[in-house]
Amino acid sequence: MRTQFSPSLLSADFSILQQEIKKVQKADYLHLDVMDGVYVPNITFGPKLIADIKKHTNLSFDTHLMIINPEKYIYQFVRAGSDILTVHAESTQHVHRVIQMIKDYNIKAGCSLNPATPLDEIEYILPDLDLVLIMSVNPGFGGQTYIPQITKKIKKLRKIIDENNYNVKIEVDGGINTDNLSEIICAGADIIVSGSSIFGKENPAAAIEEMREIAADV
Ligand code: DX5
Ligand code: ZN
Repeated sequence: MRTQFSPSLLSADFSILQQEIKKVQKADYLHLDVMDGVYVPNITFGPKLIADIKKHTNLSFDTHLMIINPEKYIYQFVRAGSDILTVHAESTQHVHRVIQMIKDYNIKAGCSLNPATPLDEIEYILPDLDLVLIMSVNPGFGGQTYIPQITKKIKKLRKIIDENNYNVKIEVDGGINTDNLSEIICAGADIIVSGSSIFGKENPAAAIEEMREIAADV
């Protein structure tokens, strides 16, 4: 399958969002990092901003909720225009219930795992997921370094998905750049999130193109 790219808006200049989003029009998704300052030590934006930018792009919205008790806000993030809504397994008591809530709105449901969380955590909900978001940094900030052991985790998940014929995509998030991209795709990633290596570059459109070329060679 062709690798897909989801640039993270976290690394964009928030004072000129409309212009920034135009630069990544050729991506497959727009990755939206929602942080509440409790689940992670940073605060970003909420459903209002997502709904406002939705009017200015045709990109699919890949919303990554890093908030405690996400079940309280699912409807708001669906209504704001999320096409994929991902919650952290560690952020709620009943993650399967939250996944069902998301799917009841007929959008894609994802579950994210922090670097320290084992794959076992989602073993029994995997058939009900559309996507697993593997964190390759500790969530909260852009521009961190990829944790090398995560490659093994991606490989392990790829094997489980393929062996069981599950229709689940693997998305990897954090510290991905042109140097480690091949390794991550080889390990089994379907969707690549990248913030600083796209929006942090002078020409984000060219950065996506360069990543697509690397992916095509894998
Ligand atoms: C971290 C976020 C990431 C982040 C990635 O908590 O979930 O999406 O923006 O940024 P880079 O690619 O700079 O690591
Ligand atoms: Zn993210």
